[in-house]
Formats: sequence, structure tokens, C-alpha cells
Amino acid sequence: MKNLYCPELYSFCFLLLVVLVSSKNHGNPANDLVSIINNNRTALKLPQLNDSPGLGCMALQYVELCKGNCTANNAVNCKPPEDDFTEVFAPNCGVELPTFGTITGHIVGCQEKYVEPSLAFSQVLVKDKKSLSLLRNKSHTEVGVGMVGVHKGPFFWCVLFSNGKTNSSFVLENRGAGIKQTQGCYSGSSAPCSVGKKNRASAFSIFFMGFVFVLLIKLL
Ligand SMILES: *[C@@H]1O[C@H](CO)[C@@H](O)[C@H](O)[C@H]1NC(C)=O
Ligand SMILES: *[C@@H]1O[C@H](CO)[C@@H](O)[C@H](O)[C@H]1NC(C)=O
Ligand SMILES: *[C@@H]1O[C@H](CO)[C@@H](O)[C@H](O)[C@H]1NC(C)=O
Ligand SMILES: *[C@@H]1O[C@H](CO)[C@@H](O)[C@H](O)[C@H]1NC(C)=O
Repeated sequence: MKNLYCPELYSFCFLLLVVLVSSKNHGNPANDLVSIINNNRTALKLPQLNDSPGLGCMALQYVELCKGNCTANNAVNCKPPEDDFTEVFAPNCGVELPTFGTITGHIVGCQEKYVEPSLAFSQVLVKDKKSLSLLRNKSHTEVGVGMVGVHKGPFFWCVLFSNGKTNSSFVLENRGAGIKQTQGCYSGSSAPCSVGKKNRASAFSIFFMGFVFVLLIKLL
């Protein structure tokens, strides 16, 4: 019985806990943000925006490009050229170019620490009148959200709006099956934020190292 109280067992249990917690499915905060945007609009009787995976994927491309540029006062100091949308972001996502519509607005924000989507909405993205009126513009029909910085900050969020025809603009080739999402997440994607291969690999190696550690202690 004395064995049960040995420190190795405690560290093993601790490591097990770490692995369980880090492999937990964190869902997709980009989808949550789309719901928050739509709730904010429908409260004012504005029509809901269609969640467009094509726009979402491009929003993720946008923040991936900008992820080094968060200033000390949480401003995104980054201006990708307009052409990047058609020449870089769309091809990276496999957006079929003939379906590329008009982007009617974008909001970007960054913050050192991760905050829940509802706080990201009010503290990071929609914190002034300008972004609020953009959000409530009547000409949007579609929205897409991308975010990066899942396991370490700073965290970047991007919202893209469009007035394209629902389901026939920003169409992803093969329904997005070919997108290799290595980090972050975007709305309309079925992949949760935490499935990055790297994270799985590191959770596994923590587990494995812990296991070897306990084994060694037992043998010595
Ligand atoms: C990010 O910031 C650096 C340094 O200020 C700047 O040179 C670079 O152009 C910025 N990146 C983009 C995509 O704007
Ligand atoms: C809404 O967005 C459209 C397209 O970007 C723009 O032309 C228009 O001025 C905006 N309307 C308001 C009220 O801001
Ligand atoms: C919509 O968002 C704005 C900005 O964060 C907030 O002030 C307002 O209360 C929100 N409205 C609703 C109905 O949630
Ligand atoms: C767009 O596609 C979604 C999902 O396939 C569907 O639920 C929705 O009814 C479609 N909307 C229109 C306007 O076709």
C-alpha cells in the first residue's frame, strides 16, 4: 500500500493529466465568433450572415501573414497588398477564382493572451464605433473568421465580410478537403483548433517521456 503514495506515481498521474488536458477538443472559436457576430446583428433585426468557409480560410491566411505584427497596444500593424487576396490567399485555400466575390470589409485584432470568443469580439475586434458600424453594414451577406495563436500568443483574429451570393461565392475546391491547416482555425471548417499535428506530437512526447521516466525510477 505504501507504494501508492510514492512521488513517481504522482508525477505519472500529473503527466497523464497534462496529456488529457492538452489533447482535449477545444472546438472551433472561429465558429463561435460567427455566431456572436450574427447575434449582434439579429438583435438589430439585421439579416444573418452566411458562414463562408472560403472567406474563413482567407481570413486565416490574412492573420498567418500578419502574426508577427502585433504592437504593444494590441494593434495589428500589417497591410497586406490588396492583390494578396486573389494572388496568395485564394490560391492557398483553393478558392475557385471565378467564384471570388467582393470583400466588403475586414476587421483584424490581436492580443497577447487568449480570450474567449465573446471577449475577443468586444475587447479585440469590435471595440470602437468604426468596427461596430462595419459589422452592422447592410450590404454584407457572408462572413468568415480566422484566428491563429492557439497555444501561444499573441492571438490574431480576422473577420472578412462579403456581399457575394450565398453558397456560390468563394467556393472551395473539393469542399476544402485539400487545405492543409497546420495552425489556427477558421469558421466553416470541420477541423477544431487544436488538431495541429505539432500539438499532438508534443502531447505524445510528454506522455512518452513521462512513461520512460517512471519506468526508470521503478527499475533503479
Ligand atoms: C510587419 O511589420 C514589419 C515591421 O514593421 C513590416 O516591415 C512588414 O511589412 C509588416 N508586414 C506586413 C505584411 O505588413
Ligand atoms: C457598407 O459597405 C459598403 C461596401 O463596402 C459601403 O459602400 C457602404 O458605404 C457601407 N455603408 C455604411 C453605412 O457604412
Ligand atoms: C453588439 O456589440 C457591441 C460592441 O461590442 C456592444 O456594445 C453591443 O451591446 C452588442 N449588442 C448586442 C445586442 O449584443
Ligand atoms: C447554403 O448551404 C447550406 C449548407 O449546405 C444550406 O444549409 C443553406 O440552405 C444554403 N443556402 C442557400 C441560400 O442556398
